[in-house]
Amino acid sequence: MQITLKNLKRNYASLHAVDGVSLDIPSNTVYGIIGRSGAGKSTLVRLISMLEKPDQGEVYYGDKRVDNLPKDELIQERRKIGMIFQNFNLFASRNAEENIAYPMEICHMDKEHIKKRTEELLALVGLEGRGKAPVSTLSGGQKQRVAIARALAVEPQILFCDEATSALDPQTTRAILALIKEIQKKMNLTVVMITHQMEVVRDACDRVAVLDAGKIVEEGIVSDIFERPQSPVTKEFISALTTVHDSVVRWSEDGGHYTLRFRGTKTGDPIISSVTLKTGAVFNIRAAGVQEVDGTEIGVMITDIGPDKQIAAEAIKALRNEGVVVEETEEGF
Ligand SMILES: Nc1ncnc2c1ncn2[C@@H]1O[C@H](COP(=O)(O)OP(=O)(O)OP(=O)(O)O)[C@@H](O)[C@H]1O
Ligand SMILES: [Mg+2]
Repeated sequence: MQITLKNLKRNYASLHAVDGVSLDIPSNTVYGIIGRSGAGKSTLVRLISMLEKPDQGEVYYGDKRVDNLPKDELIQERRKIGMIFQNFNLFASRNAEENIAYPMEICHMDKEHIKKRTEELLALVGLEGRGKAPVSTLSGGQKQRVAIARALAVEPQILFCDEATSALDPQTTRAILALIKEIQKKMNLTVVMITHQMEVVRDACDRVAVLDAGKIVEEGIVSDIFERPQSPVTKEFISALTTVHDSVVRWSEDGGHYTLRFRGTKTGDPIISSVTLKTGAVFNIRAAGVQEVDGTEIGVMITDIGPDKQIAAEAIKALRNEGVVVEETEEGF
């Protein structure tokens, strides 16, 4: 299901929480929306999922406008949506399978069908045989698996994930993201993934929109954004990631005035050597590694370039001619 947003606005008193957002979220994809705390992510999700009405603008599911529907039609359209959250929102009084069964009971589905479908869903999320487990006995990762199964119970076409992995450790996060990606393909879902973590975008999303102060400041294919981030907010998210990413090894604590990014096949070419030979530049490499973004390898190198400004400038020009993205490293990297 394709989602189209046209100039969405939502104010709280004088605060523009969502301030003119237009987006095309293609069907059959994992679409990331990243932003800092207070950027307007949850507000935007409430507008897209019809939980709240925009002050201005339009929301379309496919060709159908859905932001101005009468109540009964709204309920009908909302069946197309599943949602999962950071804190799981499971019913503590129900066990795993009773949680999964809940939305099907609401829709008055036949008992036998509910039972069969619950078993299928437990298997789908990797919790076969755990249906009778009380929610309190499940780990965070297992709780999120139950929440995913419950969200998918009535076969939605869209799955919203609002900070779905923020309460989980890195390993569990990766497992849950892998599960979401797998389910997205299996069920041809449109997944809208809200996050403040660039890892989530890198590991799970096909496209991403960067939200800042209620506005989209950048949008595109994830590997393109990683290679050529444009807005300061995006650069900040990516550099926070490179500092902690374990495949980028730093062996010198200071220096590193430039960040070079090499893409795909270029990671195998001796570009640095040829630039050195051509310009006489000296590279003092401070950190280097490879990041994999959506199947594309991007080499990252943090370096100083000498021996003087003029030769450094020539070297940078030569690198850019080779398709390497050269940026002055943000302070504090
Ligand atoms: N119901 C509300 N009433 C008043 N202000 C609100 C309401 N909901 C959100 N806001 C304000 O709108 C802005 C955006 O909030 P929102 O919850 O959408 O941000 P967010 O990007 O989801 O942040 P976080 O990452 O912390 O969840 C914030 O300044 C928030 O205080
Ligand atoms: Mg939020």
